[in-house]
Amino acid sequence: MEIVVIGGGVIGLTTALTLQDAGHQVQVWARELSPHTTSDVAAALWYPYLVEPADKVAEWGRIAYEHFRADVAHPERGVRWHEGVLELSPQPLSDAQLPQWRAYADNFRRARPDELPEGYADGYAFDAPVIVMSTYLPYVQQTFQARGGRVEQRAVADVAEAFAAAPVVVNCAGLGARELVPDPAMYPVRGQVVRIRKSAGREHLRTMSADNGPQGLVYVIPRIDDIVLGGVNTANDERLTIDEAQTPSIIERARQFAPALGEIAPDDITQVACGLRPARNGGVRVEADPARPGLLHNYGHGGAGVTLSWGCAAAVVYLAAQLA
Ligand code: BEZ
Repeated sequence: MEIVVIGGGVIGLTTALTLQDAGHQVQVWARELSPHTTSDVAAALWYPYLVEPADKVAEWGRIAYEHFRADVAHPERGVRWHEGVLELSPQPLSDAQLPQWRAYADNFRRARPDELPEGYADGYAFDAPVIVMSTYLPYVQQTFQARGGRVEQRAVADVAEAFAAAPVVVNCAGLGARELVPDPAMYPVRGQVVRIRKSAGREHLRTMSADNGPQGLVYVIPRIDDIVLGGVNTANDERLTIDEAQTPSIIERARQFAPALGEIAPDDITQVACGLRPARNGGVRVEADPARPGLLHNYGHGGAGVTLSWGCAAAVVYLAAQLA
């Protein structure tokens, strides 16, 4: 089938490539492409962060987890496997609070007492991929184009524009779905990250994060060439400019959380970036539009777009097969 995918972030590109692999003729229409998408800013540790619905998320996450595992064998794609990633909690966790995806994440276990930073009472460790999105997105886009896919940079105000070009349209517009569908359940959750040099003494840092400990949302993610420090998650803040006041706060909270970071001098900072996570009341929407035949939706992933990407793309392929 001929299909237009609206959106050029990780959801749009993985959906387009997976549909193409399934034999469809696909084009991508995107207002922004890498390196200018929200996905480019994401710290991109595989971790189903604050996203619903839990049962589907576990399965979509599993598919993406396995996909990224295969990517590791191709270093040029920018995916590395991290052992012993720590997710920490200020309160003890009951077994019922452990995530469903522990069933398949490699080496999932409770954190040991000696692994808990000050202010944390519990946590778990697991192995997971970390993806350098500024490397990975161009790889996915180029693969899609090399196989004959077309990518066009254009804003879409109405899905009717895309239906004029193809009988099937997949909405992967992220926050843009708020106006495009329109979907009032969509809202932005602003994030800001600080990237620092991986200089001497910081080579063996642990990958670690926490959602609601003494430092609020905080993560330290060593990557191939740098370390990403976060985080910020402010619902309904639409500012796409760097908040200078947040930068020292991100650094200070990360240092409290991971003292092994040591002193961070201004010269250590390589980049400060921000973006709007496309969150949705009611959770991720992957379904056929009940009112518009041929329109499929794949949006509302919040901070888990990378984590769910290939799984949601597979779900879209299934939905497209129902249309044939
Ligand atoms: C993140 O999920 O790491 C993120 C996403 C958007 C902007 C900043 C951070």
